[in-house]
Amino acid sequence: MKRIMLTGNQVFRGELILVNADHAYRGNTRRKRVDMGGTALAEVAADALCAAMEKLGGWEKIAAVSGWRSFKEQQEIWDESMRENGEAFTKKYVAVPGHSEHQTGLAIDLGLRKEEIDFIRPDFPYEGICQTFRENAAKYGFVERYPAGKENVTGIGHEPWHFRYVGAVHASLMQKEALVMEEYVPYLKRFIHGETPRKMELDGREVLVSFQKAEAFGPTEIEVDERAEVSVSGNNVDGFVVVQYIRCGMTRDRAISKLNVV
Ligand code: DAL
Ligand code: ZN
Repeated sequence: MKRIMLTGNQVFRGELILVNADHAYRGNTRRKRVDMGGTALAEVAADALCAAMEKLGGWEKIAAVSGWRSFKEQQEIWDESMRENGEAFTKKYVAVPGHSEHQTGLAIDLGLRKEEIDFIRPDFPYEGICQTFRENAAKYGFVERYPAGKENVTGIGHEPWHFRYVGAVHASLMQKEALVMEEYVPYLKRFIHGETPRKMELDGREVLVSFQKAEAFGPTEIEVDERAEVSVSGNNVDGFVVVQYIRCGMTRDRAISKLNVV
């Protein structure tokens, strides 16, 4: 067994942080970001998006409309939308400044390339190349974050264009269980680290997913299998989600083993 020490701040960092009206983004906004032709993303999300787009030949028809936003940019989008579209529309499609996933660098709005692309609600239909991307998104670690039918859970209207990077393990489990992040983060708490992990298989490798509550004071120490490749993300609420890849080897998900991506 190998020991890993997690600091209190790490609760607010990583690919699985839940950012919504109840949970503000508390991470570092000055982290490394990769330019995506006019917008930017955290490196791990940019790498995964580019891999998906290159494999699917998506860039010809799909544009990266809006990725990382600073607090100030989110505030400007909110203010402008309040002026032009009114409060009901704005609350439905724009997160309150400080509470937007776009501030993490892990979210991307995608839109069909055309002369006029709507910045807040780009066209990303459930057909053609957009649907092909959607159907393959989980393999590359992305989930459609605000699906139809879950508006009351996410607090945001249906957004077919908004994808969130969570890594292939979580994207695959969320898809299998049909859970959005507001449901998935509490769902994981039953898989107590060191006791009752969630077992799954991905790309022929056994994977264990578990939850470790953060200590109220000071760092949290966890033990992991020394043969495993390990990835830990905060949940932005009260603890850590641990992913252990039991059979090691290179896969496209290796990138998420980098800690502190946001
Ligand atoms: N459109 C999403 C909810 C945002 O503004 O973060
Ligand atoms: Zn978005």
